[in-house]
Amino acid sequence: MTSNDTLNKIVSLTKRRGFIFQSSEIYGGLKSAYDYGPLGVELKRNIAAEWWKFMVHEREDVVGIDASIMMHPSVWKASGHLAGFSDPLVDCLNCKERFRADKAPQMEPGTAINWVKGGKSSGEKSAGTVGTCGYVCPHCGSSLLSDERQFNLMFKTSIGPVDPLDNFLSEVQGKELSRAELREKLEEAVRSSAIYLRPETAQAMFVQFMNVQQTMSMKVPFGIAQQGKSFRNEVTTEKFIFRTCEFEQMEMEYFCEPGTQKEWLKYWTETRMSWWQRYANNKSAFKLRQHDEDELAHYADDCYDIDYNYPWGWDELEGVASRTDYDLSKHAEESGVKISYFDQQKTDPATGKPGIRYVPYVIEPAAGLTRACLAYLCDAYAEEEGVDADGQTKTRVLLKLHPRLAPFKVAVLPLVKKDGLPDVARKIVSDFYKAGINASYDEQQSIGKRYARHDEVGTPYCLTIDHQTLEDNTVTIRDRDTTKQERVSIDGALEVVKERINAF
Ligand code: GAP
Repeated sequence: MTSNDTLNKIVSLTKRRGFIFQSSEIYGGLKSAYDYGPLGVELKRNIAAEWWKFMVHEREDVVGIDASIMMHPSVWKASGHLAGFSDPLVDCLNCKERFRADKAPQMEPGTAINWVKGGKSSGEKSAGTVGTCGYVCPHCGSSLLSDERQFNLMFKTSIGPVDPLDNFLSEVQGKELSRAELREKLEEAVRSSAIYLRPETAQAMFVQFMNVQQTMSMKVPFGIAQQGKSFRNEVTTEKFIFRTCEFEQMEMEYFCEPGTQKEWLKYWTETRMSWWQRYANNKSAFKLRQHDEDELAHYADDCYDIDYNYPWGWDELEGVASRTDYDLSKHAEESGVKISYFDQQKTDPATGKPGIRYVPYVIEPAAGLTRACLAYLCDAYAEEEGVDADGQTKTRVLLKLHPRLAPFKVAVLPLVKKDGLPDVARKIVSDFYKAGINASYDEQQSIGKRYARHDEVGTPYCLTIDHQTLEDNTVTIRDRDTTKQERVSIDGALEVVKERINAF
């Protein structure tokens, strides 16, 4: 099976079984935007809940926030996003494809570069001049390309009852202006009322550092965590939900004393790596990759990626960066507000007096939640050859999702829709609800088809209610991964499911 086959099968399963749909599908779909259906939203929320429990609830040193997506424009000036959060964009002068220069295929030495004279429509072919930038158009292979220009990835909008175009029109009305002057006035009108959709959740944790530290009396080292939507006007969106314009992140900024960042970076890379692996079937599909010196972001003194082996190969899942004091210092500088921490436990080496003030350093584990859904779907997808009840060889498709991530933990299936079996099944479902366990009541189609359906959506257990249940309060419990069935009491079934959910 090729990598494309695997990804296509996962895309098809997630659509067929109500996990992920193309956004606005009835209108032809919106490129790179996806909707999470009834089972997808459960998977996504389960991953988010596991992260929150692990990163916030189970720790004394981390607290959470939920900040607004829109922030003061100065935030993005201070963070460097306004000036530097851009991709190098190039237009192919041959086929008009627009693409990212840094992701374009390298030009192979000695290859003839073909391009269509006069563009796509003319149909007249001749050898084009070999470009000097070292890469070619990923669509048609031409080296006849525009100059690179920087394209800022932040989505821009305006706040309040201001239409930047109205401002622009009243500004230029009656004036004789050149094209360049008009462009400048237009840009100014847009800029003056512009606000941005956040391209990362991280900045709110820096901007609210003092509020959180003081209101919660947090002592360094401590962390502030947040989950939520982020937006990037990605030039290249690709590979299903891997890179989209609207996505969700799970980020934590861990503030530590300068000089201790190396040990905290080690701690967080190891801690995050083991978190990813605890829910995975194939633990070796996750690996740590240290950034090369020339790959480091300008604010980082070290960084690791946690990469996952997707169907197309190793690619990023989470970044764990050592961001120095860059962000807090930049926000202090831009806002004019002092941002620092007074450590009463330490002695000032210069004066010998108790207490030192410093700007904390930051370690940032930054993960993608929507990307996590993709990684765990890839990890869980399996096809197994088996023999059905009629002796026919069949391929069983299943999602071996960890029970804590699975949308349903258990399916309760009355063997037939009569003789009081549905009532007993519904009572068992409500017992699961009372225990806080998401169960599915399912009476549609044959029992075999119901097992197959729940295998495909990753339900770890199916309980079948039959006539014997009416006599002795027992049910059969079927394990998704082994397909083994055993007869247990109703209470026993509840215990089996509970135990499995809590085990790693
Ligand atoms: N605050 C640091 C930061 O945002 P990043 O590496 O740009 O770092 C962190 O993003 C994580 O967010 C990535 O590892 C990835 O999982 C996810 N992510 C980033 N851009 C994404 C996109 N366009 N679509 C889906 N997930 C994305």
